Amino acid sequence: MKVKKAIFPVGGLGTRFLPATKALPKEMLPIVDKPLIQYAVEEAVAAGIEEFIFVTGRNKTAIEDHFDHSTELETTLVARGKLEALNLVQGMIHSPGSVSYVRQQEAAGLGHAIWCARHQIANEPVAILLADDLILGAPALREMVDAYQGGNMVAVMNVPADETGSYGIITPQGEAGQLVKIADIVEKPAPEVAPSTLAVVGRYIIEPGVFEKLAEGNKGAGGEIQLTDSLAARIPDVPFMGLRFSGERFDCGSKLGFLKANIAFARSRPELGTELDKWLTDTVLNRG
Ligand code: G1P
Repeated sequence: MKVKKAIFPVGGLGTRFLPATKALPKEMLPIVDKPLIQYAVEEAVAAGIEEFIFVTGRNKTAIEDHFDHSTELETTLVARGKLEALNLVQGMIHSPGSVSYVRQQEAAGLGHAIWCARHQIANEPVAILLADDLILGAPALREMVDAYQGGNMVAVMNVPADETGSYGIITPQGEAGQLVKIADIVEKPAPEVAPSTLAVVGRYIIEPGVFEKLAEGNKGAGGEIQLTDSLAARIPDVPFMGLRFSGERFDCGSKLGFLKANIAFARSRPELGTELDKWLTDTVLNRG
């Protein structure tokens, strides 16, 4: 039951970050000095993923270039003896053929994006990572892969009651340790009708049956083909578990979440944390 492949849906327009995202994919926005998508890929690597499938769209070629050799850059770094930087850029190149790109031709929803990758997936489980959801600390996908025993699995966390309309929300049915058995799931319910405040964050392990449901092309919340609906449709047939991951999640699809992530990740870096903390305490917080 090894999970060897991961899908990264990166076709979104990133309208919440305009004008920054007019020509730059939102997944390339940096947290400190690394683009969001690279954090997601590194989390996948830490979980043992060997094949990386990006579902892209127009204006996303910067992502392809980012994970490829830059001969001119590498030659220049060699010539200037900048070996640390050279190791950094060469270390993020994956083995030939392990990275593929599928183009989603229309923004028809997360479920549609995943379905676009169907020809890359055999009869096997596959992970999905949404780069907007950035996790500091223990890699969530690793925790999920370690606990996975077939069926479908999502990462879950409690959200404030007035925010259920931004997430897939589960109906929990018993817990054991980090695992939550899921009786139902609904996409973006209003707080008045939400079954709980346990929300899905962007980490999934799905089984092949989900692709069959996605193929039906049914539209759900917001008129889009929702991954959540296909997961719900599989509940009668396969186990469905939530995993309360241990890391701290940042919603980098929002400006505030993105700013918080930059501060938290910078504070966790030895070469930046001490000075940043000092500046925050002495200067920012003292301004009153
Ligand atoms: C997507 C999913 C939603 C999930 C969320 C996590 O929504 O559809 O179920 O809770 O990601 O970030 P989006 O944020 O793309 O609207």
